[in-house]
Amino acid sequence: MKLVLLGAPGAGKGTQAEKISAKYSLKHISTGDIFRANIKGGTPIGKLAKSYIDAGKLVPDDVTCEIVKSAVQGADDYMLDGFPRNVYQAEKLDGFAQVDICLNLEVDKALLMDRICGRRMCVCGASYHVSRLNGSEVCAKCGKPLYRREDDNPETVEKRLETYESQTAPLIDYYGAQGKLKTIICGDKSPEEVFAAVCEVLDSL
Ligand code: AP5
Repeated sequence: MKLVLLGAPGAGKGTQAEKISAKYSLKHISTGDIFRANIKGGTPIGKLAKSYIDAGKLVPDDVTCEIVKSAVQGADDYMLDGFPRNVYQAEKLDGFAQVDICLNLEVDKALLMDRICGRRMCVCGASYHVSRLNGSEVCAKCGKPLYRREDDNPETVEKRLETYESQTAPLIDYYGAQGKLKTIICGDKSPEEVFAAVCEVLDSL
């Protein structure tokens, strides 16, 4: 299965991707994670990506498409989290992969800012929201200190949401026209409730 996970910043793509990849044995490919690893490693791609990510803009398409093309090479079953992010990237993807389904996580805009600004991360990849940490500042899974992503500040989040509306939201129609779109209305459902809805869709395929 080749799955595209679509949704605004903070919609819960990373949260659901972790659960989906564990249950359905799909390779999880997150372009955001790949860029952050490159930034941490000080690579040329990381240096390029940082200026765009800090500004809430998309990293240039050709760099991003090449990264994904090589990440999917040799894999039959995978989930793309954060890619494609505009119609150009989707068309490029169609040139090297046959997407089976696009899962669109729909969340009220009003919730997104709080979710992102309240997110705390761990180096092990775990993600939390401050409201559910009961004051703890360490990861429940590995005990390491939690941190806030550099692009999770209100100014950058505003830009990321604008970028999503202008460039990424058109993909809803793109995959809808291909008959591959499944939208999960998340409302105020918990991550577990959203995952149950995701499983219902995936199990019906
Ligand atoms: P990326 O890392 O992909 O970030 P994003 O799309 O902005 O999404 P987030 O990671 O912020 O949110 P999420 O949907 O994964 O939500 P999460 O599960 O963490 O991209 C970062 C940057 O990289 C981009 O801005 C761009 O510059 C660049 N980039 C990446 N891909 C690119 C591409 N293809 N082309 C060009 N540039 C690219 O959840 C958020 C919070 O909510 C957490 O605190 C979580 O605990 C909480 N939460 C989750 N689900 C629920 C729930 N159901 N109820 C309550 N709280 C919940």
